[in-house]
Amino acid sequence: MSALHKLRARIPAGLRGLRPAATRRLTRAHTLAPEKQAALYVHWPFCEKRCSYCNFNKYIPRNVDELRMRDCLIQETKTLIQLSQVQRITSVFFGGGTPSMASPLTIDNILDTISQCAHLAEGTEITLEANPTSAEASRLAEFQRAGVNRLSIGIQSLNDADLKLLGRNHTAADALRTLEEAKRLFPGHTSVDLIFGLPGQTVTSWVQSLQRLLSMCDDHVSLYQLTLERGTSLFKQVYQGYLPMPDGDVVAEMYECAQHILQDTGFRQYEVSNFARNGALSAHNLSYWQGNQYIGIGPGAHGRFVLSGDGKRHREARIQTLEPDIWMKEVLAFGHGTRKRTALSELDRLEEVLVLGLRMDVGISHQHWLQIAPTFSLWKVFGESDEVKELQEQGLLLLDDRGLRCSRKGLAVLDTLLLTLLSQLEQAWAEKEETSSGT
Ligand SMILES: C[S@@+](CC[C@H](N)C(=O)[O-])C[C@H]1O[C@@H](n2cnc3c(N)ncnc32)[C@H](O)[C@@H]1O
Ligand code: SF4
Repeated sequence: MSALHKLRARIPAGLRGLRPAATRRLTRAHTLAPEKQAALYVHWPFCEKRCSYCNFNKYIPRNVDELRMRDCLIQETKTLIQLSQVQRITSVFFGGGTPSMASPLTIDNILDTISQCAHLAEGTEITLEANPTSAEASRLAEFQRAGVNRLSIGIQSLNDADLKLLGRNHTAADALRTLEEAKRLFPGHTSVDLIFGLPGQTVTSWVQSLQRLLSMCDDHVSLYQLTLERGTSLFKQVYQGYLPMPDGDVVAEMYECAQHILQDTGFRQYEVSNFARNGALSAHNLSYWQGNQYIGIGPGAHGRFVLSGDGKRHREARIQTLEPDIWMKEVLAFGHGTRKRTALSELDRLEEVLVLGLRMDVGISHQHWLQIAPTFSLWKVFGESDEVKELQEQGLLLLDDRGLRCSRKGLAVLDTLLLTLLSQLEQAWAEKEETSSGT
């Protein structure tokens, strides 16, 4: 396993009778130390059907005990906010699984709990991932009344044959109806997910699909290259030779075409897979890439925060128990279902900053890097490296007074760049340690 893969495995890669959100205790944003603020992710682990490509932490139960699940999500929210001593929640993201299958009351109750435990400033971004089925589209207004103000719709493709291949439980027409309803309710705050590099897909069919979506979408688009995940039925079909995957060159061309088309349509590529116009960047996802604190609630959720009150001030990576029934038992017994806690060293944190920060068009600022390693600047680590200079000469990477960042061309080959950069970081770190120990 390469250093990059190991690091990837550690980084998380992302829920009647309702009262209007306005009655919730909302306070104005104010300045607080970074460790007193966090983004909050809530994982709803259930789906109606297993998609052929998906290896997220999700379950297809016959019945969901929603009341018990809701109580446990509420309990874990209270516990983890208290353990973190966070005073302000900067964004909330209900992800899955399929959180649009949860009842709006569950979403409402969790938001109430958050605002009872910490400040939830007026206008805080509260996103819900929604699958574009008609059942879910009909409940979008209820989610809005519960406090959701941003929607992320998993459209994936506008081609019915592709949707079938992906095992989706909706058609392109369902997706477009959901998109229309979402834009009506959340204008300027509706995002769509599309996947490219699908079996049998050509550059032409991809471009047509993207252009069709762009003629109808709102101000935020996420484009994901299909990852063939071991253990999924799509993986099996491809490896048994039943489905042809497009060549790497073709997939690279799909991405490059998309970058150009989106730019021509007024979108800024602010991250490897994310494009926004009219300033509609996702605050929640930016928190991850900027290396801010986040609290993960629900089965399999990840978190990164400084644990208050244990005397040490280091940040921890936390992973919650994956399986919902076991997670619920743990929450009922201990108040939370954290399965694993790992203290992050300074080097761990720098590696994360590198891997996540370079995903953004703005990259990593000197100021951000120095906050973690005050005596180990970006210049010191990368400034003298011949390999890094070569990447700069190839127009893939920039190191200047603003900091370190990728060019648009560089974003397309970020994984390759990271292999060089991570190894340079590790080497520079080892030299620094050697010098400070006097050996
Ligand atoms: C975990 S899904 C949850 C959202 C929702 N359940 C849905 O399917 O629309 C979030 C997004 O990740 C992307 N995704 C999931 N598995 C993927 C894979 N194997 N390759 C590329 N993108 C993937 C999809 O675009 C999806 O919309
Ligand atoms: S892609 Fe979404 S709907 Fe499909 S199984 Fe995965 S989480 Fe569930």
